[in-house]
Amino acid sequence: MSKRPSVVRTLPILHRTLDALRGRKAKIAIVPTMGALHDGHLTLVRNARRRGLKVVVSIFVNPTQFAPHEDFGSYPRTLNEDLQKLSAEGVDLVWAPNAHVMYPEGFVTRIALEGPAVAGLEDTYRPHFFGGVATVVGKLFAQTRADFAMFGEKDYQQLKVVTRMAKDLDLRTKVIGVPTVREKDGLAMSSRNVYLSAEERRTAPVLHRTMKSVSAKLRAGESLEAALAEGRETIAAAGFAIDYLEARHAETLAKIGSIKDGPVRLLVAAKLGRTRLIDNMKA
Ligand code: PAF
Repeated sequence: MSKRPSVVRTLPILHRTLDALRGRKAKIAIVPTMGALHDGHLTLVRNARRRGLKVVVSIFVNPTQFAPHEDFGSYPRTLNEDLQKLSAEGVDLVWAPNAHVMYPEGFVTRIALEGPAVAGLEDTYRPHFFGGVATVVGKLFAQTRADFAMFGEKDYQQLKVVTRMAKDLDLRTKVIGVPTVREKDGLAMSSRNVYLSAEERRTAPVLHRTMKSVSAKLRAGESLEAALAEGRETIAAAGFAIDYLEARHAETLAKIGSIKDGPVRLLVAAKLGRTRLIDNMKA
């Protein structure tokens, strides 16, 4: 029978438990999450386990990365189901601090970011987001002193931001990006997919299909501008309110003029009803 991972809620116990694991010469990976776990998260855990690492999953719905009008209050919180899902995965511990442990009274520090965090993608629509993410991820890295951290490519700009942040701050944690896990119809797995109505769920894979078609057109020699304009039209015609469909340099997220300036990453964000979906793929 699989065993529920132990849930740690205070820093002294976290440090004691991790010291014991390290004492046995184990290397540690953290999988940072906000819970509402799906196969995408479990893939991150499995990837870490395949590398022979001990695995800490953090579950913390981070208030500082949500704007007041966003879904912090309604974000799915499913700790029991999450622990059940992790039981079969051989996770070593779950780090689930509350907001007072993460941000004790008097907490005022926030990491200020440039580079991929100000690329004019998610940051344009969620200006508060990466400051909150980088600060909590920086804290998670410091709290666990993990050797590795597993991040999904689904949040591609986030992956680039935390990779840069860990390097720039000389943190010992090395960030590993793991390919996006998709439903059979191509929709990228996301905790927010539960917000989609049945009809929206049927429409949602248009994002991935459109990126595939833009990518094929670019490889066939169509100009960046034309392929992206056609892609935006397709997405809008399916009923999305589009925030962006862009082709960027895959590492820096800088703007590019043609696919020769690559490697190229396509990135999309669009709202379907009240659900905002993001996705990306290699062009
Ligand atoms: O990707 C997420 O779930 C969150 O942004 C993260 C990395 C756990 C930070 O709160």
